[in-house]
Amino acid sequence: MYFKKILSKTFAGACVMCLLTCFISCATPAAFGVLCDGNEWMDTQGNPINAHGGGVLYHQGKYYWYGEYKSDFTTAAMVGITCYASKHLRQWENCGVVLPVVDSIGADIERGCVMERPKVIYNEKTQQFVMWFHLELKGQGYNAARTAVAVSDSPKGPFRYVRSMRVNPDVLPVDMSDKQWGEMMQLRPNDYKKWWTKKWRTAVEKGLYLKRDLSTGQMSRDMTLFKDDDGKAYHIYSSEENLTLHIAELTADYTAHTGKYVRVAPGGQNEAPTIFKRNGTYWMITSGCTGWDPNAARMFSAPTIWGPWTQHDNPCVGEKSEITFGAQGTFVLPVKGRKDAYLFMADIWRPKCPSDSRYLWLPISFTSEGVPVLSPSTTELN
Ligand code: GAL
Repeated sequence: MYFKKILSKTFAGACVMCLLTCFISCATPAAFGVLCDGNEWMDTQGNPINAHGGGVLYHQGKYYWYGEYKSDFTTAAMVGITCYASKHLRQWENCGVVLPVVDSIGADIERGCVMERPKVIYNEKTQQFVMWFHLELKGQGYNAARTAVAVSDSPKGPFRYVRSMRVNPDVLPVDMSDKQWGEMMQLRPNDYKKWWTKKWRTAVEKGLYLKRDLSTGQMSRDMTLFKDDDGKAYHIYSSEENLTLHIAELTADYTAHTGKYVRVAPGGQNEAPTIFKRNGTYWMITSGCTGWDPNAARMFSAPTIWGPWTQHDNPCVGEKSEITFGAQGTFVLPVKGRKDAYLFMADIWRPKCPSDSRYLWLPISFTSEGVPVLSPSTTELN
């Protein structure tokens, strides 16, 4: 009798709780906080997600996460680019390797090359999914500094490798004045052999390496893509010896550059660019250049994609904010169907066992002035 009473009480209590939870979750959109804080993140089959330096595409009700498959003992590409799919961003189904490395000797994406920071955007006109990534040729360290493109008819691949390149040969940045061009053309590399001097810094800002690489095309390493509301897409990459960022417009089919580009923060040493647009302002969060080691994030904003870009304070606050909480950004994902919901996706690199690198996915909050803030204690999207 006593037990029955308790049972019915607990049962009634449970029902009330259930109704309440349902009411709350139906009445307010599910608030979510940090999606991953560096703990192992398993896919729906119970295996650790292996998609580093990645980016996410939203297409017809699903998110597709593309990233680098990292092996246990090397940071080189031994497998290729992977893809995971999810409806709600928490559970991810492994869709396999969508752009595998190949075994033909001398091929651009030969096993053992470097394939980093893949990003995919969808082209409405051609109905193709277009992937760009950072490519380093096998056996050449990070000297090639190329970017590569691949296409697919389906978000789940397979992607067809198209080509690799340095960017925009023989083209000057659109915002370079005749005076600046004149100054750049006078720079002679032999006069600036010693790096990090004041004189060298000034020369870098004026385009020392831009000039050096004019005929071959500009270097392109850490990168992201940005597709704007008007359907135009841009390739944002670390160029000029990782010292200066470039923002370059892509052609209407997204598989090449138009030749229109600007330099951002010349000599500022920005890597790992991520970019998003909110209320008409473009925001870019980057890292410094310390290889696999984390450093302080940087942030810039601009009224148009072409600038002018203004630098702000480090967007990170709280403990370990000076090292981006141990991570390095890779992409900012606008969450579909939720106003003002943006996720900062970052990698916690573990170069000694690259496959064990982790993820940090933080919702971005905004100050009352609309300035982005990153904090792992953010419990809710604004
Ligand atoms: C990092 C970069 C990574 C990778 C690494 C190699 O700074 O963000 O994507 O290129 O350097 O050392």
